[in-house]
Amino acid sequence: MNRKPTIMITDAGHFEVSYVINPWMTPDAWSKDREGYRQKSLAASDALKCALEEAGAEVLKIDGAAGLPDMVFPANAAIVLDRRALVARFRYPERRGEEKLFLDAFRTHKVRGLLDVVEQFPEGIFQEGAGDCIWDAGRGHFWAGFGQRSVRESIPVIEQFFAAPVVPLELISERFYHLDVCFLPLSGGEVVYYPPAFSEAAQDTIRAIVPAEKLIAARDEDAAGFCVNAVNIGRNIVMATPPARLKAALAERGYTVMPVDLTPFMMSGGAAYC
Ligand code: ARG
Repeated sequence: MNRKPTIMITDAGHFEVSYVINPWMTPDAWSKDREGYRQKSLAASDALKCALEEAGAEVLKIDGAAGLPDMVFPANAAIVLDRRALVARFRYPERRGEEKLFLDAFRTHKVRGLLDVVEQFPEGIFQEGAGDCIWDAGRGHFWAGFGQRSVRESIPVIEQFFAAPVVPLELISERFYHLDVCFLPLSGGEVVYYPPAFSEAAQDTIRAIVPAEKLIAARDEDAAGFCVNAVNIGRNIVMATPPARLKAALAERGYTVMPVDLTPFMMSGGAAYC
């Protein structure tokens, strides 16, 4: 049995929705009840942490920072595998201030003995961390999204840094701007994906690698409910409250869905995996 996976989360105390860098973000709705949403996001963050621990993870919490509300989505901080971390370069200026703080956080993890190597993508090569680069343990390769936030030029950098194969997937919808909102590989080899988010070529690639009986196409309601943006640990899946049909389909395949109400984070375009 493997050691527990360690998942980093960011304290939600500075989270808010104050700008728009994806079509889901609703600063107007947020500003109607700042204090209410602030309380709800703190509660949602606690619930997420509990669910991740119950699912089998070790959860490591880092501080957020005022003025950097999206730091609450540390999936975008870096790609991490085998004690190596490759820290992100954000496409939008609104999030670039996070880079230094995430670098510091990973360097601290290194000093504490959790990591061996911490580097950052070269300047100008936009890549938004695990949000656009997901390790498929069963297949032994990364799946990497490009075309929205991350650039195609990030792919060879990932291959080189981790000395691991990367399967690039082009994302074509601004609503599904990170791979982790439309693609979820599961421990049993199944892949949940939302086809309209991908170019024809990317859909062909997915179908060439994942046998039809292992492919689960998410519906509009699943994708819009951020249910594809889930965390799978063994047979557990921590996910924003799913439609009953999706939960049942996953149960049929032997997975236990652990639903969490992540509404405040969905107002920023993110959920459990982010
Ligand atoms: N508001 C954030 C952004 O647009 C949400 C990030 C969600 N993260 C993710 N890995 N999908 O950057």
